[in-house]
Amino acid sequence: MTVKHAPARFCLEVSPAPCVLVLFGGTGDLARRKLFPSLFQLHTRDLLHATSRIVGCGRTRHDQASFRALVAEALPPSASTDAREAFLARVSYAQADEADPDSFSRLGLHLAELDRIETPAPFNRLYYLAIPPSSYQPIIARLAEAGLLEEPGHDSAWRHLLLEKPFGSDSASAAALDAFLQRHVHEEQIFRIDHYLGKDTVQNILILRFANILFEPVWNRACIDHVQITVAETLGVEHRAGYYEQSGLLRDMFQNHLLEMLALVAMEPPAEFSADAIHREKLALIRAIRAFPCDALESAVVRGQYAAAHGMAGYRDEPGVSPNSTTETFAAAKLWIDTPRWQGVPFYLRSGKRLAEKASTITLVFKPSPHTLFGACDPDSLVLKVQPDEGMSLHLQAKRPGPKLCMGELPLAFRYADLGDELDAPDAYARLLLDAMLHDHTLFVRNETITAAWQLFTPVLESWRDPADRYPLHPYAAGSDGPAAAAELLARDGRAWRPL
Ligand code: BG6
Repeated sequence: MTVKHAPARFCLEVSPAPCVLVLFGGTGDLARRKLFPSLFQLHTRDLLHATSRIVGCGRTRHDQASFRALVAEALPPSASTDAREAFLARVSYAQADEADPDSFSRLGLHLAELDRIETPAPFNRLYYLAIPPSSYQPIIARLAEAGLLEEPGHDSAWRHLLLEKPFGSDSASAAALDAFLQRHVHEEQIFRIDHYLGKDTVQNILILRFANILFEPVWNRACIDHVQITVAETLGVEHRAGYYEQSGLLRDMFQNHLLEMLALVAMEPPAEFSADAIHREKLALIRAIRAFPCDALESAVVRGQYAAAHGMAGYRDEPGVSPNSTTETFAAAKLWIDTPRWQGVPFYLRSGKRLAEKASTITLVFKPSPHTLFGACDPDSLVLKVQPDEGMSLHLQAKRPGPKLCMGELPLAFRYADLGDELDAPDAYARLLLDAMLHDHTLFVRNETITAAWQLFTPVLESWRDPADRYPLHPYAAGSDGPAAAAELLARDGRAWRPL
């Protein structure tokens, strides 16, 4: 299929001001896998100001050459030598250890030196904390002590703080983290990442809903029977048992990624396209989700844990996992949203590790046609494919070709891949890094949203701490679709999950 490139209409792309990106966790896994490749993508697309610099920070000792060699390994092998060298020329290293206050003074000197070389720019600073959450508070305290978070005030230079989830592990710890942050920086300086919001297909939900006349009139209880959101992974816990044993799937995926997608799918139209207006609607939506029935939790939430199968280890056999672990690696939930638009429409959410397929999809299943001339037929549905094979498809009933009048399902499908390489979507992290440099909060998560999300899920987590036999942890075979109890959650309502 060839797609003609229509002239760009609404397009907010602008170039960010010069800045120094200070990357804590600069030698870590996220930096290597995601952040340096994303920064390189921005560099090659001319989306980093020519004078912008990247300072990697970590506890390990590195000289500039050894750190640049490390960064070079993270760049795409296909990149040209010129592009790599130009990018690496922006990169430097400063050792920074929260146990050593002097290292932060030295970091301050290093940053001041970069400012001096590039005077009058770069002067803005983006601090990215790609480190375990236990190090957030010590590092932020050191930055504050060294005066590195203060916005100079005499011009428009900014100091932004980018944080990765998890933002707390329940309502109380999230509130404590927030109180700490507010003591050191203003809310406007904080950019909390949910990398799902940076995915092109997730951003597209807003455009699909609010830029087309076709969908909004049917996007409600009159036409929609139910909504399914699935984030299935084939990966197991990998090398992250230390984190995952404390977290589990509900904290790792539901409280953030799934809830954010749900909010975009179900929120009311914002009055304008601005970060504030969108946040207001998302927050109102999350607050309108009915509390889970903690006295009959099994009717609304199912948890599971993968067991050894198909030559794959079970969760309890994974390195670093307790042999008696009750950490869930799968969850499915039925939610109700108490707004006029969604009364009586269930939202089914599920996510799990070590499932049969990697697939993140949002499916809106429509009600049957009120008067059908053709007997029973499958309901129409709209499937938004978040990843992989990003795109969307509308599944309709149509006449099958041939002499007889026979009906069949006709998918009207659109795949981003068909747009060709030229329109290759930037990585979610590239989008988010760029937005943090542009001071655009639209794709970041605000503290009120996090509070509302924890208010919803903390009671579930507390109920699960009850004796385990009250709310069973359903085992499921590694490589399967998840526990049978998840299928029963829908079967009880006469529905079924869309196959993975
Ligand atoms: C992260 C979770 O936030 O998202 C991981 O901590 C999960 O456990 C990952 O694997 C999934 O992200 P993606 O972009 O691969 O779907």
